[in-house]
Amino acid sequence: MAMQLETSRLLIRDWQPESDAPDAIAIYGDPQVTQWIGDKSLDTTVEAVQARLQRYRDRAAAFPGLGCWAIVQQDSDTAIGTILLMPLPDRDNQPSGKVEIGWHLRPASWGHGYATEAARAILQLGFTTLDLPAIYAVTLPDNDRSLNVMRRLGMTDLGMSDDHYGGYHLRLFCRTRAV
Ligand SMILES: CC(C)(COP(=O)(O)OP(=O)(O)OC[C@H]1O[C@@H](n2cnc3c(N)ncnc32)[C@H](O)[C@@H]1OP(=O)(O)O)[C@@H](O)C(=O)NCCC(=O)NCCS
Repeated sequence: MAMQLETSRLLIRDWQPESDAPDAIAIYGDPQVTQWIGDKSLDTTVEAVQARLQRYRDRAAAFPGLGCWAIVQQDSDTAIGTILLMPLPDRDNQPSGKVEIGWHLRPASWGHGYATEAARAILQLGFTTLDLPAIYAVTLPDNDRSLNVMRRLGMTDLGMSDDHYGGYHLRLFCRTRAV
């Protein structure tokens, strides 16, 4: 089912690999973004970034309700980032049974609260529409901006963990559905 979710400043929708590739180069062609994320390839061409967006769509297609979506700024109609709700990979890179939320924004759009705004809407979707009991997030321990997003969202810090993403040493956060 197509994703279409509006917040006050943003539209969250499916990535369109062909038409969104030029915008997405500002995200995935910048090492300030790729140094912090799982897929670290630096995509500086339309072809490379288009292939990435297609991979994101293909991976998510196996998990109804979950996804890896574009964050579009409504006033400029520009795709400025990704917000995802996906199975959290375990130590062997298999689905762990947990669901994670994640965010990537182009650097020009940092500092406006866009990641937090998109994440609040996706947490709400996860807890209400998908009825998830808990949503997790992981980050490299020195990614201060991402840590701040997790704190702003009221996620609980569960400390360092080697249990996810093939055994990477990551800091794990969790938010449970309010009862
Ligand atoms: C992680 C990342 C998404 C955070 O972006 P961000 O812009 O810092 O986060 P937010 O969108 O929540 O914005 C918060 C900032 O906007 C400011 N802000 C301005 N208007 C705001 C508003 N209306 N609401 C909330 N915050 C607002 C906040 O004060 C904060 O500013 P600060 O950086 O001075 O503390 C971004 O740095 C990124 O894409 N990094 C690379 C990829 C990455 O690390 N992904 C996560 C992997 S775990």
